[in-house]
Amino acid sequence: MTASSLSFRIAVLCVIAGMAMGIGMAASQDHSIMPAHAHLNLLGWVSLFLFGIYYERRPTLDASRLAMIQVVLWSIGTIVLTIAVAAIHLGYTAADPLAGIASLVVLAAILIFAYFVFRPARAVEPGPTIQMTPAE
Ligand code: HEM
Repeated sequence: MTASSLSFRIAVLCVIAGMAMGIGMAASQDHSIMPAHAHLNLLGWVSLFLFGIYYERRPTLDASRLAMIQVVLWSIGTIVLTIAVAAIHLGYTAADPLAGIASLVVLAAILIFAYFVFRPARAVEPGPTIQMTPAE
């Protein structure tokens, strides 16, 4: 499996869970886990989908072990952070250190991604863009 296909799959699972959480909040009129919902949707759905698009355009990077590690780290960090943030907002303040650790995992993942974006290497250049020729 490539990093992009893993990103897309986990992103879709996150948005399904995030939407279910949103519907649950709306139905119960209890918005106390709103920060967990927002983090799951924005880190899990939006960011992972964007990583997937970036990797898919760079096939060498997409097939690399480090890109896969980046996606796995980001995903684990996001899921643990979501659970910890929800727990904190439900009154389980003991989850605070867990949220701290998860936030560092997500930070580590974005630093790996920053390395991909900034390193001057042929491996991270985008593949050719499809050119459209107008009909005559
Ligand atoms: C079935 C779909 C969804 C439902 C029913 C839903 C529902 C909700 C509800 C009830 C709140 C709490 C609002 C408040 O207390 O002020 C909320 C907040 C939020 N939602 Fe969703 N949501 C859905 C999908 C999404 C998606 C797909 C995203 C992001 C891509 C998203 C991002 C956010 C954010 C960022 C907030 C926090 C807004 C704020 O700080 O005021 N939601 N959502």
